[in-house]
Amino acid sequence: MESSEKKGLLIAFEGVDGAGKTTQAREVCAALAERGVDAVYLREPTNGPHGTRLRQLMVAGRDKVDPMEEFRLFLEDRREDVAQNISPALARGAVVCIDRYYISSMAYQGALGLDPEFIRVENEKIAPVPDLILYFHLPVEESHARIVATREGGYNLFEQQAYQERVAAVFDGMNFPQMVKIDAARDPAAVQQQVMAEIEKLLTSHSLV
Ligand code: TYD
Repeated sequence: MESSEKKGLLIAFEGVDGAGKTTQAREVCAALAERGVDAVYLREPTNGPHGTRLRQLMVAGRDKVDPMEEFRLFLEDRREDVAQNISPALARGAVVCIDRYYISSMAYQGALGLDPEFIRVENEKIAPVPDLILYFHLPVEESHARIVATREGGYNLFEQQAYQERVAAVFDGMNFPQMVKIDAARDPAAVQQQVMAEIEKLLTSHSLV
């Protein structure tokens, strides 16, 4: 994407399942909107055709699909999200808070055996690079306990502990300069304080506040 088309900021909320990033992303958007900032909440997989197919596959079991095909489905879903939602919002100067992005593809499809670097390069051909990546870090045992305690029925193969351990290892090994690690084991208010402080820094450096 041409940088001249991008006036807004893109913030990716990332981490293993159960780390609380969805709550945080929604709250950040609400807090920014209250201050008059044009803030947009998005999530991937989307509710579009590819995203819907991906969710169905997760329920059916990931052994039904080959890792490369899964990677391609996430890429197609993202291509649509970029065209329909992300690029237009960035072009008009909005702050986009995205709940999972291609960093999740690197971790989750990387944990299936694909090369995370290949995943990054392919995604950066079609998707804008985030200005800030908030990595919600939580020991896998803790995220597992949270998921078991809070979800009914929806517990699927995506959330199996051994797989999550591999996913976490890929996240931990990433070296994006714009990635900030957030200790998600603390209470939500403390987490939110750190998240907002990081976002303030970003907005100030881009003169958006
Ligand atoms: P979702 O139901 O949104 O879970 P959560 O609320 O925990 O984020 O499903 C997202 C799942 O999709 C999650 O387990 C991670 C996975 N995923 C990938 O494997 N690759 C990707 O590129 C993305 C965006 C998500």
